[in-house]
Amino acid sequence: MILLDGKKTSADLKVEIAESVKKLKTEGKKTPHLAAILVGTDGASMTYVNAKVKACELVGFNSTLIDLPEETSEETLLKEIQNLNNNNDIDGFIIQLPLPKHINEQNVLMAVNPDKDVDGFHPTNVGKMTLDLPSFLPATPFGILELLERYNVETSGKHVVVIGRSHIVGRPMSILMSQKRPAGNATVTVAHSRTKNLKEFTLQADIIIAALGIPEFLTGDMIKDGVTIIDVGITRVEDATKKRGYRLAGDVDFKSVSPKSAFITPVPGGVGPMTIAMLLKNTLLACERKS
Ligand code: GUN
Repeated sequence: MILLDGKKTSADLKVEIAESVKKLKTEGKKTPHLAAILVGTDGASMTYVNAKVKACELVGFNSTLIDLPEETSEETLLKEIQNLNNNNDIDGFIIQLPLPKHINEQNVLMAVNPDKDVDGFHPTNVGKMTLDLPSFLPATPFGILELLERYNVETSGKHVVVIGRSHIVGRPMSILMSQKRPAGNATVTVAHSRTKNLKEFTLQADIIIAALGIPEFLTGDMIKDGVTIIDVGITRVEDATKKRGYRLAGDVDFKSVSPKSAFITPVPGGVGPMTIAMLLKNTLLACERKS
């Protein structure tokens, strides 16, 4: 069993990105600048956004955090987005999800200038991705492709079972891995909460992407030997033995699944750190495309 080490791979990527930033600076070009909007005080969202800002500092980007209260109106949020769209110093920005219930997520994502949409959530970028055109790829699927590539995991002709059809992970992942591209050319099955006899599919899979958000859902009896496992889940599970009162659990029961796996991502330290690295990569691309 080989661990797909997202912590190490993302650190390598950050070194590569930092080198590119240094080069841009010595050439007198613009320093990449990422902005993030956070609405409310959800604990996990605050952790993720702070990690994104810290990562910007590490690679030499400029960053701006726009922290808005929970009760912010959709109109006010849309105005903040317009300000970022019109600010020439900002190369890319993200709105951390989920948003409070009174705000329509689609309206918000549609308001982002697609050229600054480094999360790749705008319909223009989703459409371009689907048509194999250059676009911003959503960070989590982009990070998974990068891990598969860097560890030379064969995907061509393999059967990939994606569990989950979210707009952020499952859906784009299934599209990307079926495409004629690196870490692609796979035969893809998309399974979800209405799938009957899921185990029949997972037992046939060469690669499983677990992105359903149910802790330790995928167990050893559901997989064949030699499979590659990508665990996208990261749920806070109450744990009184931990100082912070919770532990982070993936969608995969690592204990029973890892002995049968050829490659597997740990949680934490697998897909999570890759997501941040790919957001930085998209911001660098956005900056370079402008100049
Ligand atoms: N919430 C969970 N994942 C993501 C992500 O990739 N981007 C943003 N903006 N919010 C998220």
